[in-house]
Amino acid sequence: MSHDITVLISGRGSNMQAIHRACENGTLQAKVTHVISNVTNAGGLEYARHHGINTTVVNHKEYSNREAFDQALIEAIDCSTPAQLVLLAGFMRRLTVEFTQHYQHRLLNIHPSLLPRHPGLNTHARAIEASDRWHGCTVHYVNEALDGGPVIARAVVPIKNGDNVDSLSARVLAAEHKLYPTVVQMCLHGTVACQDSHVKVNDKAALNPLLYYYH
Ligand code: GRF
Repeated sequence: MSHDITVLISGRGSNMQAIHRACENGTLQAKVTHVISNVTNAGGLEYARHHGINTTVVNHKEYSNREAFDQALIEAIDCSTPAQLVLLAGFMRRLTVEFTQHYQHRLLNIHPSLLPRHPGLNTHARAIEASDRWHGCTVHYVNEALDGGPVIARAVVPIKNGDNVDSLSARVLAAEHKLYPTVVQMCLHGTVACQDSHVKVNDKAALNPLLYYYH
């Protein structure tokens, strides 16, 4: 069985690149077959093209509403062999219920905070502002709630004295690059699944999300 992955990006696509590298070095048994962006000049598209990955731009500005854009996105994703997993990796558009239901249980996102803490934007500044001691990232199934789908795993990093947004975001991003390929491997190869909005690990209901510490 082929484990094809489609990745949706809006920017530099460093998470997409980390996933692609993990596929290339065999730690992730899968193939990134399609990278789609809503932004014409997203940096990650260049990387994808350079590595022979099929790319598509679906520019949200060309659609009159969210529904029409999401429909075009679905067509772009499903036009080739259906991807086993669709990954949001810095994809900066809110998605409709129609979209999230279409990809139910095979749509994942990575978010730069320890959800449910700090959903939404500017997570690093908010974590520093709140004097949090710990911060990190979360991989979750995507449903209609913004950053609210069932959590699969979190990676925790410390917030150190003197941290600013740049230093903290770099530490979290390094954790993202480890966590996302790890979780994708578990989802594709059977260890992790989602049933009735509940995450299952090794066929048993996961009482708590998986937790990783990266110092
Ligand atoms: C990451 O921090 C991700 O968690 C968030 O957006 C950022 C995307 O970075 N959703 P990149 O495009 O993968 O480099």
